[in-house]
Amino acid sequence: MNPEQRDLAKQYARALQEYIAGRGEAALQEACDMGRKALSDGIGVHDMAAIQHRALLKSLMRVRTREESSSTLRAASRFIVESLLPFEMSHRRSQEVNAALRESEERYRSVVDTARDIIFTLSADGKIMSMNPVFETVTGWSRTEWIGRDFLPLVHPDDRPRAAEIYQAVLTGQVPPLFELGVRAKSGFTIPGEFVATPLARGSRIVGVLGVARDITDRKSAERALRHLNEALEEEVKRIAHALHDEAGQLLASVHIGLADLARDLPAPAARRLEDVRGLLDKIEEQLRHLSHELRPTILDDLGLGPALEFLAEGVSKRTGLSIAVEGSPGKRLPAPTETALYRIVQEALTNVTKHAQATKVYIKFMRNRRFLRGAIRDDGVGFDVSAVLTRRGARGLGLTGIRERLHAVGGTLDIIATPRGGTQLILTVPLEADNAESDSPR
Ligand SMILES: Nc1ncnc2c1ncn2[C@@H]1O[C@H](COP(=O)(O)OP(=O)(O)OP(=O)(O)O)[C@@H](O)[C@H]1O
Ligand SMILES: [Mg+2]
Repeated sequence: MNPEQRDLAKQYARALQEYIAGRGEAALQEACDMGRKALSDGIGVHDMAAIQHRALLKSLMRVRTREESSSTLRAASRFIVESLLPFEMSHRRSQEVNAALRESEERYRSVVDTARDIIFTLSADGKIMSMNPVFETVTGWSRTEWIGRDFLPLVHPDDRPRAAEIYQAVLTGQVPPLFELGVRAKSGFTIPGEFVATPLARGSRIVGVLGVARDITDRKSAERALRHLNEALEEEVKRIAHALHDEAGQLLASVHIGLADLARDLPAPAARRLEDVRGLLDKIEEQLRHLSHELRPTILDDLGLGPALEFLAEGVSKRTGLSIAVEGSPGKRLPAPTETALYRIVQEALTNVTKHAQATKVYIKFMRNRRFLRGAIRDDGVGFDVSAVLTRRGARGLGLTGIRERLHAVGGTLDIIATPRGGTQLILTVPLEADNAESDSPR
């Protein structure tokens, strides 16, 4: 017996004796308090029974008659029930807590089991510890083929170094931004997956990685279809640009020659008026040439986005009187579809400014860091109610939708900041592939 038990045993024997002697409710209350104290001191039900046993023996030794003996036994049994009440209550509470815990665990399990995303955990030595059933539907593998094995062979070989690097970073406590990896399906195909991963902690220790992966096959194929559509559109624009440049240009040249012939046969005053007409024709020719180059700027292919935007801004500025500043720089060369998409986006944004904004100034700015290219086209015009325009039913412009779709096709996003009378700003964000971030040379 430890000191606490000894003290308790003494107190118990005294209080029991008092109860037998007729102390009543106060003694029973003391029994209950002793039980509570025993519980908090870590004294168990068995010890309590032993203490009761001794106290009872002591009390029985004082008994003289049979009546006394049976009333002592009755009192002792009431007394122990009272002293064990706190144990009973704590047992019931823990049963309730267990039931609630079981219920919440079942709820969690059913969320995980019916989730459409793959939810998995990895151990600190790279083994797959758990995966929900959707893994089987998405990949065709059965879970038993992978649980307990290394996760890396499940990743497409090209993506393994990056996957390993991210895994190590998460084990050090980092939470990386959304990332994409190819996952090997049982069929041999690669499934594009979008992942989030966070450290799996037990107490303050990181014991693995908790991840969620989404099959983005549909999104990828929609992006591919959009890219093809845009490429087809580009071809069409190229054809129109050539027609404008070559055919309309040729026609205008013929008109020039015809007018020059005519001028020779006319008296001087009429010939001078014809000269004015030829001057106008020159301007039209010049604008046509500029327009056809803007439509399909060879400068974009040859020199890249920065010079092409300068060229575009200069043409629009000349035609409309808007002051257009091109600031910053898109930096190194980007993949052709991205450059074309960004050029078309700025072109549509400038058309919108001329059509709707009543602006005097436009700023085009591109900036780049290691992972993103950001662009902004800002005007000082009348602005507009963005959510009203974007949710408008029926007849709707195609410009902003086209801008958003072009960006999506290259994995980018669009934000529009505009308020009525407060000007408009389009903000474009395009993620950069790791290898594009380095490439500097013209294609
Ligand atoms: N820079 C801007 N300043 C003010 N309003 C704008 C600006 N850009 C767009 N808007 C508003 O947003 C609407 C939608 O633009 P969007 O380019 O989608 O269509 P649109 O220009 O009307 O038609 P489309 O581009 O098909 O010729 C415009 O009608 C206009 O009200
Ligand atoms: Mg428009």
